[in-house]
Amino acid sequence: MAKLHCPLVIGIASGKGGVGKTSTAVNLAVALAKTGQRTLLLDADMGLANAQIALGVKAPYNLSHLLSGDKTIEQIIYPSQEGVQLIPGASGRRDMAAVQEAEVATIVRALDPLVDQFDALIVDVAAGLSPAVTAFMAACHRRFIVVRDEPSSIADAYGTIKVLCTEQSLDQIYLVPNMVPSQADGQRLFHRLNDITLRFLGHSLHYLHAIEEDELMLTAWRQYRSVVNHAPGSAAARDFRQLAKHALELGQLSQITGGTPFFLSRLLDLGL
Ligand SMILES: Nc1ncnc2c1ncn2[C@@H]1O[C@H](COP(=O)(O)OP(=O)(O)O)[C@@H](O)[C@H]1O
Ligand SMILES: [Mg+2]
Repeated sequence: MAKLHCPLVIGIASGKGGVGKTSTAVNLAVALAKTGQRTLLLDADMGLANAQIALGVKAPYNLSHLLSGDKTIEQIIYPSQEGVQLIPGASGRRDMAAVQEAEVATIVRALDPLVDQFDALIVDVAAGLSPAVTAFMAACHRRFIVVRDEPSSIADAYGTIKVLCTEQSLDQIYLVPNMVPSQADGQRLFHRLNDITLRFLGHSLHYLHAIEEDELMLTAWRQYRSVVNHAPGSAAARDFRQLAKHALELGQLSQITGGTPFFLSRLLDLGL
């Protein structure tokens, strides 16, 4: 019998918008796909779904059609030229920004039967801290918090971490500094935030790699491409490949901490 495996499931949040959450989700997904991982990107940013733009995917159907019962999960999975498969967010559905927690569970359960089709699932959640955002982050097995070195982003990252680790008792929280001048600056930002969370929340964070500021990010975005494929030699592409490499080196989960995690039946089979 084939060895049971559980996909790597990473939720990407930031609190504040505009710090590079979607850029990180898309490029991490593409970098994982380039190593041969069958990668699915779930755009759970219902209000401002733009992962499909970043990947150059034209998608007539999206999460709203799954939630309304008009389409099955398979019918809303789209291939992209970047090698990643995409479940588009529900841009345009008026009440989508206020997606209910119950609907998050519907999406999580719909993916369960597809466990053997993917090696990695990356979830781009919305900005802010709505119940749906925390429900998605709780459903993910690991949580990446994207942060920029500026006061409002740091405050929002801290607020997000606080909710995830105190109200939701979640661990597996990783800080991903973005738009930093150097890796050393990324590490410094991590240590600053980690000291604060340790002191005030009694919780330490994990760290893998930072993403440097790189104007080629914008050039790639304008061409509906990932920087990883558009400018493979750029600093940002190199950083996303490093982030993906470190993410793949993470060991098996030792326990489940979320409420209704993605691929629950597999986690149970694995004895977690
Ligand atoms: N490392 C980076 N260097 C330069 N620009 C970046 C970087 N990361 C993101 N950006 C730019 O910042 C803007 C916001 O990024 P986006 O991923 O849409 O943020 P969010 O999803 O958090 O709202 C985009 O124009 C993107 O190209
Ligand atoms: Mg975004």
